[in-house]
Amino acid sequence: MPTGVASGPSRDCPICPRLVDLRLSLRDQHPDWFNAPVPSFGDPRARLVIVGLAPGLNGANRTGRPFTGDYAGDLLYRTLLNLRLAQGEYRADPRDGLSLTDCLITNAVRCLPPANKPLPEEIAACRPFLTGQLDAVRSARALVALGRIAHESVVRSFGGRMKDYPFGHGAAHTLPGGLRLFDSYHCSRYNTNTGRLTEEMFVEVMTAARDFAQA
Ligand code: URA
Repeated sequence: MPTGVASGPSRDCPICPRLVDLRLSLRDQHPDWFNAPVPSFGDPRARLVIVGLAPGLNGANRTGRPFTGDYAGDLLYRTLLNLRLAQGEYRADPRDGLSLTDCLITNAVRCLPPANKPLPEEIAACRPFLTGQLDAVRSARALVALGRIAHESVVRSFGGRMKDYPFGHGAAHTLPGGLRLFDSYHCSRYNTNTGRLTEEMFVEVMTAARDFAQA
């Protein structure tokens, strides 16, 4: 199993200068927003863990809950509700009372990156927190990586070599240690608007991952 930092980054995590600058300027512009590393959300005893990329500006960075308040979250939480991995009502607000059962959502990078594009050194700097989170969910049987960056960071967390684990939508891999990793294109507005990812394609991967995790 991986080893990493068990607790998440602090609210004022100083590690990535570029992300700290953006955080501080957003705290000035929007003092009512969350503007801090976004913690994981869901069931600490989950059998399924979903790994996203990083908080979105108006989504998790504003609200403080992964995928909450942006387009990607509309598709993700709708799918989780339909698959009975989420209960309640998703209202794009962390106070909506939504809960996850047997499922936990985390991000490869905990802070908002400019233009949604973390630099390789930022992804690497945040990896100990991802590794620590994955290590903490000892019940996990399956992971879903949303997009290539999440996929690569998960594989590196487990000490895998990238050439042995090629990313591909719908691909599934057995990681060192035995967890099963399912890949999906990221459920972003861009990917769905361009037709790269349809809702059907997304639901198919999520269903396969849930069924594996719960078998
Ligand atoms: N919000 C998140 O928390 N993660 C993503 O990858 C996208 C939006």
